[in-house]
Amino acid sequence: MAFGLFKKSEKKESTTNTHYHELTVKQIIQETKDSISLVFEHPSSGKLNYKSGQFLTLIATVQGKEVRRSYSLCSSPYVDSDLVVMVKRVDNGMMSNWLPDHLKPGQKVKVLEPMGNFTTEYAADKKRHLIMFAGGSGITPMMSILKSTVTQEPDSICSLIYCNRDIDNIIFKNELDKWQTQHEGRVHVIHVLDNAPMNWQGYSGLLSKEMLEKLFERIPNWGLEKTTYLMCGPEGMMKNVETLLTALSIPKEKVFKESFVSGTIDKEKKEETKAATVSGNTAHEVTIRYDGQEYKFVVEPNRTILETALDQGIDLPYSCQSGLCTACRGRALSGQVKLDEEEGLSQSERAEGYVLTCVGHPMSDDVVIEIG
Ligand SMILES: Cc1cc2nc3c(=O)[nH]c(=O)nc-3n(C[C@H](O)[C@H](O)[C@H](O)COP(=O)(O)OP(=O)(O)OC[C@H]3O[C@@H](n4cnc5c(N)ncnc54)[C@H](O)[C@@H]3O)c2cc1C
Ligand code: FES
Repeated sequence: MAFGLFKKSEKKESTTNTHYHELTVKQIIQETKDSISLVFEHPSSGKLNYKSGQFLTLIATVQGKEVRRSYSLCSSPYVDSDLVVMVKRVDNGMMSNWLPDHLKPGQKVKVLEPMGNFTTEYAADKKRHLIMFAGGSGITPMMSILKSTVTQEPDSICSLIYCNRDIDNIIFKNELDKWQTQHEGRVHVIHVLDNAPMNWQGYSGLLSKEMLEKLFERIPNWGLEKTTYLMCGPEGMMKNVETLLTALSIPKEKVFKESFVSGTIDKEKKEETKAATVSGNTAHEVTIRYDGQEYKFVVEPNRTILETALDQGIDLPYSCQSGLCTACRGRALSGQVKLDEEEGLSQSERAEGYVLTCVGHPMSDDVVIEIG
């Protein structure tokens, strides 16, 4: 791969892994009013390997039900001795409220091994400029990538444009200030607030083309070839940034994004797709090959392949259950599978027959999926 970076996996190696671990909470840090960092010790059985930009799947029993959610690691494997995730409360959210309300230092949390393709390989001879757009909790993978890039690639630089509601909601503000001061000229952090206080010297309001042009004047211009654009944040912000970058003639292949939540903007279209999938379908048998076992079961038209497998007690890998994280990815060796959501897979993955079982429906009786 030319840049080998932030592409939804073009590589053949599996991104799924069902190895469960129990991590001990070492510390809980209140970052802002509604966000905490959970600092975990590595397991005593050995260090958990991960790449900057990957996420952990936290598993907990909430209201008597097993709940799994993905949380990007904000620690860097090169800089931090512990594993750290940051959780921001979501209104009425199950896991994001359960974790801060129930977890205490010393407790154990079940997790899946780190996964995800929003990553890059580091090399001391690389010279690149990463321009990162983050919104709210979308800072987490950027924090890890920034720390790893700055420490592993002496000639690379990072510019972070970080959008938040107001000054009190800026997560990791002090840590970002520290990195900017310690690596002056190599780390540029620009804050953009929806609601700025009276004495605010920075930017405020919705990112516009004019604002972006001004922001870009404040950071080095290394030219398109050496620059990569990354984004992670609320869907509205990412759509806006994508549109603005297109308006500034930045080619799509230079832009990489990580989504935390499945789209709401295209929700109607997705519901239509789902309805069409369901109405045009009947129950079909599916064969899953996973971990040396073969499972056969019938999937009803209104159920996904993963839902049906879990109902039958088959322990397949999964995390977000929304077609975003690729934890449930498998390759269809035969048959037709329709996906409600294709966001998580790259075009080449789709062409190679990869599917996501959490949003997948069999459309024929000869579907065989190999996972792992
Ligand atoms: C790859 C990946 C990495 C992630 N990394 C992080 C991270 O580092 N930090 C973090 O705090 N979260 C992260 N998330 C989001 C996280 O997995 C959960 O979705 C989030 O904590 C909400 O879970 P919940 O159980 O509280 O809400 P749910 O009970 O699942 O949802 C409640 C309602 O909130 C909406 N909702 C769900 N998530 C969000 C959201 N993020 N913003 C706004 N509305 C939402 C849902 O549509 C639903 O209507 C990540 C998600 C993915 C896929
Ligand atoms: S479980 Fe995340 S994409 Fe299927």
